[in-house]
Amino acid sequence: MTAAGFDRADRAASALRARLGDFVPEALLVLGSGLGYLADEVKDALPVPYDALPGFPVSTAPGHMGRFVFGELAGRRVMVMQGRFHGYEGYGMDEVALPLYTAARLGASAMLVTNAAGAVNTVFSPGDIMLITDHLKLFGDSPLRGPNPPGHDRFPDMTFCYTPALLTVARQAADALGIPLREGVYMYFPGPQYETPAEIRAARALGADAVGMSTVPEVIAARHAGLDVLGFSLLCNMAAGVSGQPLSEGEVLDAAAAARPVFSRLVLRCLAQV
Ligand code: HPA
Repeated sequence: MTAAGFDRADRAASALRARLGDFVPEALLVLGSGLGYLADEVKDALPVPYDALPGFPVSTAPGHMGRFVFGELAGRRVMVMQGRFHGYEGYGMDEVALPLYTAARLGASAMLVTNAAGAVNTVFSPGDIMLITDHLKLFGDSPLRGPNPPGHDRFPDMTFCYTPALLTVARQAADALGIPLREGVYMYFPGPQYETPAEIRAARALGADAVGMSTVPEVIAARHAGLDVLGFSLLCNMAAGVSGQPLSEGEVLDAAAAARPVFSRLVLRCLAQV
């Protein structure tokens, strides 16, 4: 992130601090396409639209709103991103990373991130939930490109990107709830076009189990900012070329809607222990 980017995070965090009083969020919840409804369950909710914050851009993706919601969820003080910034909308990586640094400055120590993704692993099915254990990001800028601020690693380690203790929390939560949980590697594609069948075959050969257009830049920034990370993909469709059918956004949003109850239970149970 550039120095100007850090300055934006500082200004946004100061503006939020003025509104929040002594409320310190414990966790940041980042909700993917069609999954933003969880923000409506926040108690004592204080919504803050992104465009009310200095330095913040406005999210434009379908199925996304553009605001933070502060309050209590699953017994935790949370900061929910209802709507996020994707590179394919035209945002720079600085902007994609901005909320993570803002959350860290407000005192959050963990990020729980969700996304809608395509299933690359042919053993998986639409509707499955995948715990993200690792990622692949071979293309696109890093959110960390640019001068590094004091107190942050210039070359942050990514070995334990997805916090091992939180992987255990997720497995135990799924077990306790009787929810089948897939696990795998999420591969980032910048989009906005869906992948080609050849790209999906390449992704599979590289070790990807799911593909999507979000999450990885945010995870990298979150780790750089010192947050623990837990991530889930809701597999909405088989990735390009697997079923022989064209991909559509309607299919993705329908699958996200159908999986709502199960996905919510799992996310809330994990959040309680993040
Ligand atoms: N590819 C990329 N992003 C996605 C997909 C996909 O198949 N499904 C949902 N988001």
